[in-house]
Amino acid sequence: MNMILSPSILNADFGHLSDLLHETQAAGAEWIHLDVMDGLFVPNMSFGISVIESLRKYTDMFFDTHLMIKDPEKHIDQFIDAGADGITFHIESTVAPLECINRIRARGKKVGVAINPDTPVSRIRWMLDKVDMVLCMTVYPGYGGQSYMTAVNKKIREIRYIMGPDFNIEVDGGVNLDNIRSVLEAGANVIVAGTAVFNDDITGSIKRLLSCAQ
Ligand code: DX5
Ligand code: ZN
Repeated sequence: MNMILSPSILNADFGHLSDLLHETQAAGAEWIHLDVMDGLFVPNMSFGISVIESLRKYTDMFFDTHLMIKDPEKHIDQFIDAGADGITFHIESTVAPLECINRIRARGKKVGVAINPDTPVSRIRWMLDKVDMVLCMTVYPGYGGQSYMTAVNKKIREIRYIMGPDFNIEVDGGVNLDNIRSVLEAGANVIVAGTAVFNDDITGSIKRLLSCAQ
């Protein structure tokens, strides 16, 4: 299964976002990872609907929208209106996971469920056949630039074993050139990278990360 790179714009220069998106796509990234934070589910705040809506006009990249917000079911339709292609919600953030799934499906978009580093796979086992992707957080959500938690590799292996080779498993937090091979080896195929991409050499960083999958 091919690796998909989903650069997270969280630590990018927001004054040049549309140009940066073009650069990431030209370098080989197929998705762009949009980290939405509300200051409630996570301590930090980032950006929301209007930024996504603006970016939609400048690129056809797959908008991989990671909602780190409380009660996501209340806002899913707005994010889809803004241009999200996939919506990933946290199982820890909602009492209505089925409503989240149904709302995303009803609009024909891809459904992802995210689990924090300390949330066991058993918490989402019942819904694995209803989603297109599981996002395994390898840092506690809220900030870019944290270190990868290797203990999560066990959960990636577990999900890959349950779901087989064609299911999307995304990994988010602390992935870089030093650890990406072990992340892929554990069974992840969608790789989020923030600070490892948005540095002085975006194109080179993306190409080097992608070359690790070959
Ligand atoms: C953390 C976010 C991540 C993160 C990725 O809450 O979901 O997407 O910003 O950044 P790095 O790759 O720097 O850990
Ligand atoms: Zn994320």
